[in-house]
Formats: sequence, structure tokens, C-alpha cells
Amino acid sequence: MRRKLLLGNWKMNKLVSEARDFALASKPLVGTALKNNIDLGVAPTYLSLDTVKKNADKGMIVAAQNVHFNDHGAFTGEISISMLKELGIDWCLIGHSERREYDNETNEKCNLKIKALIANDMVPVYCCGESLSTFEAGNTKAFVSEQIRVGLRDLTAADVKNLVVAYEPIWSIGTGKNASAEIAQDICSFIRSILKEMFGNVANDIRILYGGSVKPENVKAYLSCPDVDGALVGGASLKIDSYEGLLTNIL
Ligand code: 13P
Repeated sequence: MRRKLLLGNWKMNKLVSEARDFALASKPLVGTALKNNIDLGVAPTYLSLDTVKKNADKGMIVAAQNVHFNDHGAFTGEISISMLKELGIDWCLIGHSERREYDNETNEKCNLKIKALIANDMVPVYCCGESLSTFEAGNTKAFVSEQIRVGLRDLTAADVKNLVVAYEPIWSIGTGKNASAEIAQDICSFIRSILKEMFGNVANDIRILYGGSVKPENVKAYLSCPDVDGALVGGASLKIDSYEGLLTNIL
């Protein structure tokens, strides 16, 4: 049985003081979630990771939004896995479409990062998803398949057992134009079939999230799909009331 997972991606939002307020306010939600077999988490900016980790419930997943694949060295502006681990952070988003678009994050670079995270017992949340033009041209599956095959290259079934994949069609991110639950199910089930081909039955244990304009009002429709195991939520994860609404509506 795959546990449900609700993960907020705060992107470049929230001062440290705001992140702390959210972490404190979220405390009572985590127990409710865990009792219902749902994992809850947030991905704050680097600057807020330590504060959120210290002030949130211990059961709250706290994820970084990115990491470098080298452990140390002359990489100005970067953060390493051991720096995250020192703060007790053991989850990290990889390959978000905004990083692919603005920061030259390629499938190959994602692969290096995912391998480094797994080698350090961390949980990568590997993001994939196509642009509007790729969707309209009917090329979603070929595009996503390439992202999965290259991003997860050279890994074994044992390596990927804790991996999380997030399918986020770019045309539905922050646009309010969310993909239908049918599309989400179709692509998430397709991703699972590729994972099965690559890694065998462990694919049945890998959580696949949908992301893109998920709100308290539509979260249940996505999580009712058999191959959608949770949601990666941007805008609607920023305010505690809305974050709580996401959880309450799937209980
Ligand atoms: P929105 O929920 O704001 O559309 O963002 C989705 C996303 O990019 C989460 O990673």
C-alpha cells in the first residue's frame, strides 16, 4: 500500500519569519495526516530549511528545492548534500520545470543529482512534465518517457524504492488551467509502466504525485485516481488555511 503524500513547494516565497509561523501553525495537522496514512511535507527555500525543521512537527517532511551533485568545492552559489544532511534534511526536489527552464537543469544533470542523493540515503522527488506545445502536439508520453529514462539511468530497483516522482505538466503550473484527473491518471500510470520496465515490481511501491494548480477544491479528484499517490502543490500550499484544506479534503 502506497501512503498518500501532500508536498508543498514554496518556490521563492516566504521570509524566514513567515516560514517559522507556518511551521508552528502546521504542527497539529501532521498527527491528523499520519493517523490517516498521509505524509505531509513542505519544500521551503534553503534559508528557511533549518527554521522549518526546528519548528514543525517531527513528522513533517522538510525538503530542499535543489542541491548540487558534488559534495564540496568551487561551485559559487551552490549547496551540497552534506550541508542539507547536517540540518537533518533528507528530502530534495530535483528537476522542477522552473529549474529546467531558467537554470539549465537537464535530464543528465538531474541524473547526477538523483544518484548522489540516493547514495546518501536521501529521498529525491524527481519532477517531470511537458510544455503546452508538446502536449498539444500529442508528444507528452515520448517526452516524459525520456525524462524518466535519462533521469533515472544507472539506478537499481533497490536504489529507487524510496524515490518519489512528480508529474507536473508545465501548462498547468500556476495557470489555474489544471490537467483533468483523467490526464493525470493516464500519465501517472504511464510513468509507472516505464518504472516497471526499468526496475520491475518495485514500481508498485514508488509514489507518483500530480502537480499543477492543485487546490483544496480539486485535490480529492486527483488523489482518487489509482496511480496518483499525492500532490506537489505550489500556490495553494503557501497559506496555512489552504494547506489545511488540502489535507482535510482528502481525509
Ligand atoms: P501550482 O500549484 O502553483 O500550480 O505549482 C505547482 C508546482 O509547480 C509545484 O511544484
